[in-house]
Amino acid sequence: MNEIKNISIIGAGFTGKQIAAIATLYKYDVSIFDINSEILMEAKKYITGVLKRKQKPELSNHIYYCNKIEEAVSNADLVIEAIPENIELKKKLFFQIDRIAPKNTIIATNSSSIPVSKIEEVVDRKDKVLNIHFYPPIPLRPMADIMRGTKTSDETFEKGKKWIESIGCHPIVVKKEIIGFVLNRMWHAARREALNLWAGGHADIKTIDSAWKIFTGMAMGPFSLMDGIGLDVVYAVQMSYYLESGELRDKPPDALKDMVDKGELGMKTGKGFYTWSKKK
Ligand SMILES: NC(=O)c1ccc[n+]([C@@H]2O[C@H](COP(=O)([O-])OP(=O)(O)OC[C@H]3O[C@@H](n4cnc5c(N)ncnc54)[C@H](O)[C@@H]3O)[C@@H](O)[C@H]2O)c1
Repeated sequence: MNEIKNISIIGAGFTGKQIAAIATLYKYDVSIFDINSEILMEAKKYITGVLKRKQKPELSNHIYYCNKIEEAVSNADLVIEAIPENIELKKKLFFQIDRIAPKNTIIATNSSSIPVSKIEEVVDRKDKVLNIHFYPPIPLRPMADIMRGTKTSDETFEKGKKWIESIGCHPIVVKKEIIGFVLNRMWHAARREALNLWAGGHADIKTIDSAWKIFTGMAMGPFSLMDGIGLDVVYAVQMSYYLESGELRDKPPDALKDMVDKGELGMKTGKGFYTWSKKK
């Protein structure tokens, strides 16, 4: 079994930069690419900051900020894509990576709700695809779901699992495909009910968050957590569940769609369910 040494991250947004940072901290050689060069530079600032805080600034030499996807994947053993939650975009990207990456490279998606089995048709290497799904902030939640496509080989699965462990994370093995994996499935139920309580006018967001925090002992309630994830991502994920089940209770509320359309996306835009200052 070839060892995984070089990691490529495609998409340097909220999750991509965190995966790149932790892989660099664990001494992998990491290449990262984003179609938006400003976001790539923001990711550089973030990753440099993480490495400094962890007193490993010298590891900055092990991360490469790439202007072209070809540069990012040409030497990769494992590519993880973290581009927006849109199946057509992801298929297009998998198709592209399949054509330009070395033939043994494993291609994984960090998607929160799309099983890789729904993407795999566009690649030839169907035995080398995976879902590897993180739960940012990764240092606070060191775990990742790992799930197969329909033809993923045992070797690919084992390599993925070992890699997750090698970066100090707990692999959550999904034995049989399901949308939302393990923890996200449970979190989906709580999130759906919180959204429906709010949109139905049964309780306001602070009440729902307080009840959750007191009961679970967690520092944040569902609405703060959704603001952290990004309401565009939350909306897209809820839509995936709805399209899968067809059940009305899974349909994301129109009020959430209105917020997304207005650009109220949560912490990343400063306003979502709550107003966020940079300091907060
Ligand atoms: N936000 C979360 O908490 C969270 C948690 C786990 C998984 N995810 C999943 O991770 C993925 C990304 O989510 P995010 O919140 O990081 O999104 P994000 O919007 O913060 O980042 C996505 C990035 O992808 C870039 N991009 C778009 N198309 C691209 C392409 N073709 N090539 C390269 N870069 C491209 C965008 O410029 C953007 O910077 C989604 O599939 C989401 O479901 C998100």
